Amino acid sequence: MNRITTLDDCRIINLRKISDVRGNLTPIEANEDIPFGIKRVYYLYDVPGGECRGGHAHKALYQLILAVSGSFTVTLDDGKKRNSFMLNRPYQGLLVVPGIWRTLENFSSGSVCLVMASEKYDENDYIRRYDEYLFFKNVSI
Ligand code: TYD
Repeated sequence: MNRITTLDDCRIINLRKISDVRGNLTPIEANEDIPFGIKRVYYLYDVPGGECRGGHAHKALYQLILAVSGSFTVTLDDGKKRNSFMLNRPYQGLLVVPGIWRTLENFSSGSVCLVMASEKYDENDYIRRYDEYLFFKNVSI
């Protein structure tokens, strides 16, 4: 399944925004607002200007990537097509399914990238070399 996933399986999810005079609140409920259970949350912050994160794919992991503060660009690649998403709204998350190569860059100063993940950290779930990724996706170079 993860070998045949494409960019079409990834999408922006518009989360609820509950607003009142005290400000905004966005809830995320596993298997309701997003199509997976959450086993792990992590966040990237204090990313120096010009740095690039990601640069890998996962074999089984689903993720929702959010710019809870500031902005950055996520580029997704399925071995055949590439698409970039500028994330800059705390109520919009990018759903990344298993088997998609991703890079994150152009972090604005003070930005925070929050990631909801379907599994605990497992280095064996990573594909960190792009040639290995293309082999995994059965794309000939
Ligand atoms: P990495 O996944 O390479 O970061 P990014 O996707 O932002 O480029 O992880 C960087 C380091 O952090 C690496 O040594 C693994 C460790 N790490 C954890 O221990 N737990 C986690 O949940 C994550 C995402 C990374």
